[in-house]
Amino acid sequence: MTAFGAEDARAVAAQDSHRTVLLEEAVDALAIRADSKRAEGAYVDATFGRGGHSRLILDRLGPRGRLIALDRDPEAVAAAKGINDARFTMVHASFSELAGALDRSGLKGVDGVLLDLGVSSPQLDDAARGFSFRRDGPLDMRMDTSRGQTAAQWLDTASEAEIREVVRDYGEERFAKQIAKAIVAARQRGPVVTTGQLADIVGAAVRTREKNKDPATRTFQAVRIYLNQELAHLSLALPQILELLTPGGRLAVISFHSLEDRIVKQFMRTAARADMPIRLPLRERELPQPRLRLIGKPVRPSADEITANPRARSATLRVAERTGA
Ligand SMILES: C[S@@+](CC[C@H](N)C(=O)[O-])C[C@H]1O[C@@H](n2cnc3c(N)ncnc32)[C@H](O)[C@@H]1O
Repeated sequence: MTAFGAEDARAVAAQDSHRTVLLEEAVDALAIRADSKRAEGAYVDATFGRGGHSRLILDRLGPRGRLIALDRDPEAVAAAKGINDARFTMVHASFSELAGALDRSGLKGVDGVLLDLGVSSPQLDDAARGFSFRRDGPLDMRMDTSRGQTAAQWLDTASEAEIREVVRDYGEERFAKQIAKAIVAARQRGPVVTTGQLADIVGAAVRTREKNKDPATRTFQAVRIYLNQELAHLSLALPQILELLTPGGRLAVISFHSLEDRIVKQFMRTAARADMPIRLPLRERELPQPRLRLIGKPVRPSADEITANPRARSATLRVAERTGA
């Protein structure tokens, strides 16, 4: 066990490489108490990033507790080498493969799972990753750089209708039609291979300006979500987590835009309802019990956190607890 304190966890989380969003709130939500059996339990940080949440979880975990961390980004996996702790295991996998990853780690159930969705600051800040319209670089945008096609490859082959749908549905972009048309016209003159090219094409196609928002924001978000199949991975992970959580175990999810938050909200609400397909003459205790209990209201970052880290401004944390049902 390392002598890593909460102060260290906060310091690492605040390093300019990645500022962990809702650090205390999300780890508090897992309800790991040093004085309880829960501290000896098994936890999952399914989106390791640079390990801000993982470090605080380890700080609260008892000597026999375990933390399994996942990330689909090989750079995040490499960053985890900095954690030298026998209770900690890092796995290169998507959280949609959680059940298999835990099985291979010898775990049948867990006491808490944290998902901190989206991209990390190191991914956004490294021009070579191709996520940012602010930094010119190759148009890559893959979270898992070990597989899959890049954004440049996809934009080179996708039909105009496909691009329009992706930009409209995942970017909630009003000018999806104009953007798709402009991309297809541009690629006839030559391949679109850099973030700067894409940002310029989109900037020229979007006719109005949203306050404090680059016109390329929605398109970059859309292509990233599509390329990494982010909503599909989330939808696949949530039912697995429900099966893996032990009674009293907590699920905490931080999401950054309405599409993923909607999936989380609907999943939690459905699992927290004891739905009966038809009305049967049963007493209350005979009714099927809900499998999740919602914990508190959605949590948003404080004004101070948003001032210190503007990337936190769209974060929402939702928490639910596994019942015994
Ligand atoms: C917002 S960051 C997490 C930051 C982390 N909580 C910290 O404190 O450093 C999101 C991370 O989740 C990873 N990620 C996104 N989708 C994933 C998926 N389906 N499976 C595993 N990791 C994923 C990204 O690669 C990124 O490193």
